[in-house]
Amino acid sequence: MDQKKIAILTGGGDCPGLNAAIRGVTRRLLSKNYTVLGLLDGWAGLLEKRFVELNYATTSGIIHVGGTILRTSRTNVLKDQETIDTAFKNFKELGLDGIVAIGGEGTLTVSAKLFEKGMPLIGIPKTIDNDIDQTDFTFGFATAVEIATEAIDRLHTTAESHNRVMVVEVMGRHAGWIATYSGIAGGADVVVIPEKPRSIEEICKIINARKDRGKRFSIVVVAEGAKILVNGKATGISKERKDPFGRPLLGGIGQFLADEIEKVTGFESRVTVLGHVQRGGTPVSSDRVLATNFGITAGDMVLNNQWGMMPALKGAVMKPVLLSDATVKLKTVPERYLEILQSLEG
Ligand code: F6P
Repeated sequence: MDQKKIAILTGGGDCPGLNAAIRGVTRRLLSKNYTVLGLLDGWAGLLEKRFVELNYATTSGIIHVGGTILRTSRTNVLKDQETIDTAFKNFKELGLDGIVAIGGEGTLTVSAKLFEKGMPLIGIPKTIDNDIDQTDFTFGFATAVEIATEAIDRLHTTAESHNRVMVVEVMGRHAGWIATYSGIAGGADVVVIPEKPRSIEEICKIINARKDRGKRFSIVVVAEGAKILVNGKATGISKERKDPFGRPLLGGIGQFLADEIEKVTGFESRVTVLGHVQRGGTPVSSDRVLATNFGITAGDMVLNNQWGMMPALKGAVMKPVLLSDATVKLKTVPERYLEILQSLEG
């Protein structure tokens, strides 16, 4: 019998835990005598036939390392028919039996579409934003929350010393999971997330109410994709530059909020934009375990020919779900968390 050959790729934004997932898939398949390739720079590796062999040696000593040993990109493999044809041609020429694509919303949606076109693919959900539907959590999220929480803790003491409002801008394009979790854990006074646009007046009312109670500082956490209500209209802040999928680059809402809060409340305000610090560096242990679980489960799914699917964490167990189901919508922060945040405000 021919030895089976699988390729792994990482696409979209990186996150802590990717290497643990790559290692998990590889080791599961090596134990069943598969050949495992790592495509370099996401889908670009398939389009340009650039890869490395993944074996015990190349996946050794990487579980604690951030980023991805395969590197990543936002290459649009569905750009046009010629690009799609190249992907299928190279899949065949490389002698592949399937691909395990580790990625977020973009990569998983592309994987679902390529699967529909006939390519055997299994997805693994990853993103610090934790917004992939069907799975309770994605790896990278816990590390990002840890980093944001530590930042909020540190900002508390300087905010209090100077009687200032500190605005912390965290990642979260469509969903405010990082802002919600770090806001709760760090004891933020106001949390602004994409799920609930808020007005400057409403935010300042909370800060002023704190002042009335003798608190002369406040911490505001805002997700970069959050929207502010101006004259009843929800407005976000983004840059003109777009990524290869046409999504505007975010960032800037923190500064906007700090300026407006200072104008309305008179409190001197400062902004801290955490940015890619949340995505870089070593994964916390729970992300290493979760990513390994995703990787090993995806390896099992390859062995069971469960193509067109991805493992999803449901409670404490991994269950295979259809990529086409998991990519219909994003998993946003539910009402219950909005209630929790509201109860804690001020
Ligand atoms: O990984 C998702 C994310 O963290 C989003 O919250 C953010 O908008 C995006 O990545 C930014 O990624 P990049 O700077 O790599 O384009």
